[in-house]
Amino acid sequence: MLQALEDSVKYIKHKIGDFTPEVGIVLGTGLGALVNEIDIPHSIMYSSIPNFPISTLEFHSGKLIFGTLNGKKVVAMQGRLHYYEGYSMQQITFPIRVMKLLGITHLFVSNAAGSLNPEFRKGELMIIHDHINLQPESPLRGLNHTNLGPRFPDMSQPYNHDLIEKGLHIAREAHITCHKGVYVAVTGPNLETKAEYKYLRVIGGDAVGMSTVPEIIVANHMGLPVFAISVLTDEGFPADLKPVSVEEIIETAAKAEPKMTLILSKLISGL
Ligand code: HPA
Repeated sequence: MLQALEDSVKYIKHKIGDFTPEVGIVLGTGLGALVNEIDIPHSIMYSSIPNFPISTLEFHSGKLIFGTLNGKKVVAMQGRLHYYEGYSMQQITFPIRVMKLLGITHLFVSNAAGSLNPEFRKGELMIIHDHINLQPESPLRGLNHTNLGPRFPDMSQPYNHDLIEKGLHIAREAHITCHKGVYVAVTGPNLETKAEYKYLRVIGGDAVGMSTVPEIIVANHMGLPVFAISVLTDEGFPADLKPVSVEEIIETAAKAEPKMTLILSKLISGL
């Protein structure tokens, strides 16, 4: 893996010259508009980067974007990779490792998620302060490269406390309903049954989704401070569960997106 990482980083550096990103951003399903606020000098298709996995979802355009957001140099993944697409956990998290080796000091992640908490409603936001990993394996399974991080990384505070507090403050000032909660990661691509939504709530989840946790584990492994935020796109309340379609999820994500974009962009500029 180290050689593959080195080859990718070398190729990207050749393309971006002396541009050194300070912040990494991963944008979730239906949440790509933050990119419109970035002044973009370089953008590289995943498919042209050696060893980079290619995003298969039609609504993900699969580009690594380099530019300036409110004066901060950022690299954004437009198009995230999901386990349900068939990639290994190592493939999904490969770009996070690449971004770290390119120089980022902070990682910002967004996603669309289903609410499990009756007080957290569709269209509202949730800053993730902890998670439960129900995906089948850790991206750190296998040989550990100690120059990337420790064999047994600590996960007692996987989401940066300071950024969580700042994010909540920004939301309050802007009159945005933004909760703080626990994200449960499942494999997908199917959504949950009533019994599963009930179970996920009972074990301590506030929201459920199919992404984010692998990236957060790898970021923690490399000592990278993380901020993650969910847009709640549907309500997994078993007593009144309605069918959900991916079109609806994307539509709700798009409606709530400006609120999320505002929080991320202010947080990043205040770093
Ligand atoms: N479950 C799992 N993943 C999701 C959901 C959900 O209800 N909504 C958006 N992503």
